[in-house]
Amino acid sequence: MSYQVAVLAGDGIGPEVMVEARKVLTAVEQRFGLEINYSEYDVGGAAIDNQGCPLPESTLKGCEAADAILFGSVGGPKWTHLPPDEQPERGALLPLRGHFELFCNLRPAKLHAGLEGLSPLRADISSQGFDVVCVRELTGGIYFGKPKGRQGEGEAEEAFDTMRYSRQEIRRIAKIAFETAQGRRKKVTSIDKANVLACSVLWREVVEEVAKDYPDVELEHMYIDNATMQLLRRPFDFDVVLCSNLFGDILSDEIAMLTGSMGLLSSASVNGSGFGLFEPAGGSAPDIAGQGIANPVAQILSAALMLRFSLQQEEAASAIERAVGKALAEGYLTGELLAADQRHNAKSTSQMGDFIAQAVREGV
Ligand code: NAD
Ligand code: IPM
Ligand code: MN
Repeated sequence: MSYQVAVLAGDGIGPEVMVEARKVLTAVEQRFGLEINYSEYDVGGAAIDNQGCPLPESTLKGCEAADAILFGSVGGPKWTHLPPDEQPERGALLPLRGHFELFCNLRPAKLHAGLEGLSPLRADISSQGFDVVCVRELTGGIYFGKPKGRQGEGEAEEAFDTMRYSRQEIRRIAKIAFETAQGRRKKVTSIDKANVLACSVLWREVVEEVAKDYPDVELEHMYIDNATMQLLRRPFDFDVVLCSNLFGDILSDEIAMLTGSMGLLSSASVNGSGFGLFEPAGGSAPDIAGQGIANPVAQILSAALMLRFSLQQEEAASAIERAVGKALAEGYLTGELLAADQRHNAKSTSQMGDFIAQAVREGV
């Protein structure tokens, strides 16, 4: 089989971790006899610097012509002085999500047995492990609601964002959450703030309706503030966590850190036709960019999600996941996963990529 992938590495650690994902994909191509053709495009700050805008027409056209988008990360201090809509995040990433209607964002996080030491959780909690997937609505809510902006001057100036959700937007993401749960431990925790927000009241109502079609799946509702706490106290009780756009953004960083690092959390953003953009959940990490120390695992696992969801290559996807599991189990780790007195053992970004690519070739 042959595929066309648009590669948008972006800014900060994006290009560094993308190199490693490409190494691993090359190993996958060799082992599984696939052919992946890549086209690279500027996006975000890199596109501003090279072409004067964060999402050039050629980038969008290249994505439209591809089977999937492999995305790095965008943004950084160099571009925060620009007007908000011209910055990398609001000028490129959000428009890409909107343009392709990538309403469904999946962020799977697992703490493997034997890897409790990576988690900042207390040992009696982390030793029980956990396996959750955050199902985040990605093209609605307060991110995209209109009106949005600023008005007035001086002391009278105000700024506003609008949170809106339609029944249809809630229903389609809720269905994904229940279907995902059916393939797992059959539990959905729907996150909201129904004690305050009108959107959350509707959210709860629609999720309840959808639940009727999935009698084998247990549904619970939880307020967002409580959820941030319960995830620290008993993460093993969660299976599928269904969230609106903003709540999912926040909870997914928390879930990432519970597994040990932002650099482990992958993400798939897909539309109704299975087309998707695959990117680490974390950002361009300006604090560590350019040092060759970023963890490439989130990017590598995002490539696995691309193989699974857009290219229908399940075997290749799980081969990558097993190879990553081997690296972690053998203590092959980047520095941010290690305690300060262990950092002398840290592996570099490229050592991690080499190890995982080799493990894919060997067929672990
Ligand atoms: P961030 O996720 O970039 O970094 C947060 C912390 O996590 C930092 O300490 C960083 O070093 C660490 N981290 C993240 N990824 C890591 C990795 N692979 N390996 C090791 N450590 C890692 O979040 P931030 O600092 O709030 O944002 C930086 C920039 O990235 C901002 O411009 C933000 O808007 C942007 N951002 C982009 C995306 C994206 O493109 N998808 C996602 C989140 C943030
Ligand atoms: C993420 C990021 C983005 C978001 C930003 C960069 C727009 O934080 O993918 O989690 O808020 O969705
Ligand atoms: Mn985020």
